[in-house]
This record gives sequence, C-alpha cells and structure tokens, in this order.
Amino acid sequence: MQSPYQAELELAKSVARKAGEIMRMYSSNSGRSNNSAAVCVKSGVDLVTEADTHVERVVTQIIKNAFPEDDIVGEEDQVEYPKGKQGDPFPAGRIWCVDPIDGTTNFVHNYPFVAVSIGFMNGCIPRVGVVYNPFTDCLYEAAEGSGVGTLLNGKPVRIDGVAASVEDCLLVNNIGHCRYDDFVDESTDRVNKWLRAGLRGYRSSGSAAQNLAHVASGQVSCYYEHGYGGPWDVCAGIVLVKEAGGVVWDAREDGTDLRMRFGKGSVCAGGKKVVEDVLRVAGKPKITF
Ligand code: IPD
Repeated sequence: MQSPYQAELELAKSVARKAGEIMRMYSSNSGRSNNSAAVCVKSGVDLVTEADTHVERVVTQIIKNAFPEDDIVGEEDQVEYPKGKQGDPFPAGRIWCVDPIDGTTNFVHNYPFVAVSIGFMNGCIPRVGVVYNPFTDCLYEAAEGSGVGTLLNGKPVRIDGVAASVEDCLLVNNIGHCRYDDFVDESTDRVNKWLRAGLRGYRSSGSAAQNLAHVASGQVSCYYEHGYGGPWDVCAGIVLVKEAGGVVWDAREDGTDLRMRFGKGSVCAGGKKVVEDVLRVAGKPKITF
C-alpha cells in the first residue's frame, strides 16, 4: 500500500537530507566548541542563526519548485505564507510547515538534539512528517495511509507500549523560551507534581521535533510542553507519533487532538494511558498564550 501523500513524503525526505548537509557544514566549519553560524536573539532567550535562515531558504525553494501551488510556513519567515494571530486555526489548503533547525539553542552549543522538521498538512490535518537529526543521522518518517506506520532509518518503530502511569514513564518536558515569573513558577510547579507522584525519569532536550520523534520510536514514553514555539515545532512530529500508535493531545484540554494553530501551543504526546496520567498529575495550565 502507498500513501496518497507518497510524493510529498519522498520530497520531504530528500529536502531533510539536504537541510542536514547544510547544518553539518556550519557545524564542522568551527574549530570552537560553539558552531560557526552567526547568532541573533529573536526575543529573550529565543535564538536564530544564519544557518536557520540558510536552511529555510533552500528548503522552501525546493518545495516551491516541486509544488508551486502549495503554501509554506517556515519558522524564520523566509517566504510569503498564510499569516494569522496567536491561536487562529490554519487555512484548510495544502500547507508545508517547516522548522529548519528545531533546537537552535542546542545547535549553537553543539548539543546534538537538533533536527530539521518538515511537515505537510492538508485540510488543517498533518499528513506527512519527516524529522531528521543530521548529527545522529536518524531520519524519522511517516505518511498517513502508508500502511507501514513510522519508520526510523527505514525500519518500523512504535511508541512505548508499556508505560501507563507517571511511575513507569520516561517523560521529556521542554520549558521553551518564556522567562517571566508566572510562567517559570507554573512550569516548575508542574515538575514538582510529577516528581512527587513518583515519575520514573525526567528529561528536557531542547527540541520539540526531536521529542516527538523519540516518542514515536518509544525512546521516551511521553512529551509534555506548555508553550512550544509554533506549529513548525509539532506538525511533522504529530504524524510520526500517530502513525506509531500514539496520541498527540492539546495539554489544555482532556482528550482533544492538538489542532494546527498559529502561535504558541501546548502538547502532550505518547501512549493514551500515560498521556492521561501525565495530564492528570500536571493539572490544567493557567497561563494562556
Ligand atoms: C524550540 C525548541 C524547544 C522548545 C521551544 C521551541 P527552536 O524551537 O523546539 O525545544 O522548547 O518551544 O520553540 O526555536 O529551537 O526552533
């Protein structure tokens, strides 16, 4: 069986590998512990490098050449794209959602949780996802209706099918880029609650796309983030997790699939049972975006 989105999947994979070459080039040019890409601060602790904009330019050009009618949303804003305010739903057409370097802070520090994330959605639903980490050479791929689920370097993977509660959960939780008091307090209170409930293991990676790929391949049991940066962080990973047997819910609502919206969002992904328990223990977030 082939996915109805096979052509988009093949393009996403080749684009991701090209993006990886560029990322490696910036990284290996450096004789220092930090890589050679010039760094700017977008806001607060949110960084962007010339490598991010370079990768996004190349990726969007290749997609435009292959599918000239499609729209593209890229984190670094290199192209014309559908625009919306925080929380607005996406338009229903064919839209590619690209994060050229997810984990930019990690990239700047040569910390190897870094990935390019290429998602494709149609009718507001993510249909194809490719996440590629060029430093570990791990390529995760999935396309709706393919019949083969999620693949890691060509081999099928599944979510952690064992974890059912926080006590047997390896949780990855990113705290994102907000640094104001209420946000920091709420984020750390949540960590306290999980730890007091006997959480097996707590990790924070600095890459949302990488986290979703790790959930899809069962390398972590669950990923929670209240305040991820934007739809490009999660679009591809949603497909990876769902095709691997998991759920991707909006962490602000019980049992609701994460919807593709502009701006920051809130996610909890993993096997259904462990997601329910992680959300139960965390309680509802109060901060709104
Ligand atoms: C960020 C990373 C980080 C997550 C933030 C994202 P960027 O993306 O995925 O792990 O916590 O919410 O914005 O800025 O590195 O592309």
